[in-house]
Amino acid sequence: MHRSSSDPRFSPDFIWGVSTASYQIEGSPEAGGRGKSIWDTFCAIPGTVLDGQSGDIACDSYRRWKDDIALLRELGVKAYRFSMAWPRIQPEGSGAPNRAGLDYYRRLANGLRDEGIEPWATLYHWDLPQALEDRGGWPVRDTALRFADYAGLCFRELGDSVANWVTLNEPWCSAFLGYGSGEHAPGRTDRAESYAAAHHLLLGHGLALGAYRDGGGEGRIGLVLNPALPRAASTRPEDESAALRASVERTGLWLDPIYRGTYPVGHLHARDIVMPIVPGDMETISAPPDFIGVNYYNEDAVQSAAPTSENPDGFAQVATWQDKTAMGWDVEPEGLLRILSFIAGNWPETDLYITENGAAYEDVPDQDGRIRDSGRIAYLRDHIAAAARAVIAGIPLRGYFAWTLMDNFEWSHGYSKRFGLVAVDRKTGERRRKDSFHYYRDVAAGYGR
Ligand code: FCB
Repeated sequence: MHRSSSDPRFSPDFIWGVSTASYQIEGSPEAGGRGKSIWDTFCAIPGTVLDGQSGDIACDSYRRWKDDIALLRELGVKAYRFSMAWPRIQPEGSGAPNRAGLDYYRRLANGLRDEGIEPWATLYHWDLPQALEDRGGWPVRDTALRFADYAGLCFRELGDSVANWVTLNEPWCSAFLGYGSGEHAPGRTDRAESYAAAHHLLLGHGLALGAYRDGGGEGRIGLVLNPALPRAASTRPEDESAALRASVERTGLWLDPIYRGTYPVGHLHARDIVMPIVPGDMETISAPPDFIGVNYYNEDAVQSAAPTSENPDGFAQVATWQDKTAMGWDVEPEGLLRILSFIAGNWPETDLYITENGAAYEDVPDQDGRIRDSGRIAYLRDHIAAAARAVIAGIPLRGYFAWTLMDNFEWSHGYSKRFGLVAVDRKTGERRRKDSFHYYRDVAAGYGR
């Protein structure tokens, strides 16, 4: 008797995938003539990353890419979202392409396709060439132009191998953690610069998208955000409007320019920010992408509070009851449905993908070395169920990518926070499947529950 292997909650063409990022997995920082990125520099500064760790070795994926493809094949996913390290392709951030860098990604993309796995390439997941940071980084306009050149070069060289492109991953982090709080590379702390960076990131995105369309690109191109809409602590109108104001920096600041061609004026005004807009920029930025990727991990709750100079929007986070992951992030699957509904309801309808979702846990192996990561399985199961409710609600959600294939370099947390479906031995590089790997294989095969 034939047993259907299609999860009835999702259409058969729903994409199941996993995501990674270049600096978090590749290692081999000098191989093939790769230039330095801002993360190489940042990691070398004492006190920036836990225990002075860096991505120098990471998962050694630059050399072990075939092992990664074998794991993906076994996992049965339809798509693999990886990122390309700009300094492998343009070591100094501009000029002629470095063949070895392009060849690496071409081999990876073609190797995936040979196994029936669609490559989803992110052009920028935070590893800016250091040479461009030395010339001002994202707060200066030229970086957006350089990004567009780099993107055009990738489309020309790799367009035959890659049909799904993401311009930027979570530009909020690049702008506000990189140039505002300084938690991420390059570690600068200037609020006005973080807004200038935001504008130039969006401009870079728009220029890259334009280059793709002008070059006759036949695939799809979109942007990945980490939008947030905190819950209001009560149904009092002041708390509900505080929650909306709290959403702007991560949500409307990015989606309004893309879909409405304007920035949220009140938000900028409250901070005395004037964006460095040159005539024509908003038209460039507002060319419609083919999809928006939503990275979702957690949801906070806020109440109304007196505005301060630090937080002119007048909201404060409140304590919550939810279980926490090892990141200290609340586990709140309904928040995924809420953010998807918020986006689908407030900006014109576009295909949506969950481009990252996952959880860090301690993952202590048992006596036989088996990693029974039931916390992660519960997290994934509950979030996938929320994704199913989004589909039922009519939200145009087309796919789900788990973060992440394997434990990797978690930015300023070094290797201490593990999100992988697969564990990686830091000394030998050996990969060990966790129980969640087998759970997600079932999901990809249509037996999710
Ligand atoms: C996201 C990043 C990704 C990873 C996860 C845990 O913000 O895009 O690289 O660090 O968080």
